[in-house]
Amino acid sequence: MIPIANPEITEADRQAVGRVLDSGMLASGPEVEKFEEEFADFIGSDFAVATTSGTTALDTAVKACGLEPGDKVITTPFTFIASCNSLLFNQVQPVFVDIEPDTFNIDPEKVRQALKEEAGIKGILPVHLFGQPAAMQELQKLAQEQDLVIIEDAAQAHGAAQQGQRVGSFAQAGIFSFYPTKNMTTGEGGMLVTSEPEVAEKARKIINHGRAGRYRHDMLGHNYRSTDIAAALGREQLKRLPDYNKKRRENARYLKDRLAELEWLTLPVEKRENYHVYHQFTVRVNSSAINNPNTQNNPSSNPETIQAAAELRDDFVEHLQAAGVGAGIYYPMPAHQQPLYQERGFQDCHCPEAEKAAREVVSLPVHPALTTDDLDKIVAAVKSFN
Ligand SMILES: Cc1ncc(COP(=O)(O)O)c(C=O)c1O
Repeated sequence: MIPIANPEITEADRQAVGRVLDSGMLASGPEVEKFEEEFADFIGSDFAVATTSGTTALDTAVKACGLEPGDKVITTPFTFIASCNSLLFNQVQPVFVDIEPDTFNIDPEKVRQALKEEAGIKGILPVHLFGQPAAMQELQKLAQEQDLVIIEDAAQAHGAAQQGQRVGSFAQAGIFSFYPTKNMTTGEGGMLVTSEPEVAEKARKIINHGRAGRYRHDMLGHNYRSTDIAAALGREQLKRLPDYNKKRRENARYLKDRLAELEWLTLPVEKRENYHVYHQFTVRVNSSAINNPNTQNNPSSNPETIQAAAELRDDFVEHLQAAGVGAGIYYPMPAHQQPLYQERGFQDCHCPEAEKAAREVVSLPVHPALTTDDLDKIVAAVKSFN
């Protein structure tokens, strides 16, 4: 089976982690400090604070940026649940705004609309989904006009850029995840980046029990500290990240060139201003273009069409898996439709583009460990469907 993710662990990684294990200094120490400096440098931010995960980095960002219980923050429903859960952790109310169908990212026009319609919005939390930057220029403009905080969820977009600027550096704070499926890994781990000294200072306290001095605590904090073991691995992975991203882009190009002829498949786009790092290569199965009596000539809102579209996509995933290609569905249900959010009063929330994407998307392997043989096998498996 060609896996959907395959993190590379090299001899240099093993040696770096081994040196930390031999040193006896396993918790947060000099490796974390260097990792933070190197990561901040790479992103183009002044500060970085290493955490235990992308989720804890998000929670820290929400708190450090001054969002408070009762505030409202605009975000996308088409994401991993941690993005919007970070708001719920802090009694901040997510306001879900629909996505652009081509990039799967939050639609800035719909953000503008939501800002007109809804009072009390204090921030925007865009997600750079699958490695493609969200429309930061437009979002920044809206934030400036209305004095809003932006927190970038760049958990899937290490090294992605817009007009030459790396994501994570556009806003008050950006966060990254180092989970093993990501473009670089530390096992579990995360990073908050910022160029605002007060945000950095507050974040550093939040991840360390609100520590103001030795056994002195002047705010409520957590233990979200990273370790030298994770940081040693992260420093090595960071050195290879640009090559990994380059290989991901080459793999994406290879797949696009060979799958472009298939009318029933929509391939990922890369916006002209973006440097997409293809955390995922996410296609759509276009149910209307395929030879299926249940899905042709039906209006897209028809419940039978909706059901048939999801079934067709699921058949496609099964077909790929039977052919030895580990495909994934990210994400089969938008956040506002999740039972947790339905229970919390989001029943009337409608984001038709996110809901449609959730029925149609399939991610194919694109990771840097793929060989040309693997890529050819993926192409052949896709083409033999239908
Ligand atoms: C978009 C997004 N945000 C946040 C997270 C949370 O990161 P972690 O799994 O490191 O807690 C993830 C991880 O999958 C993610 O994909």
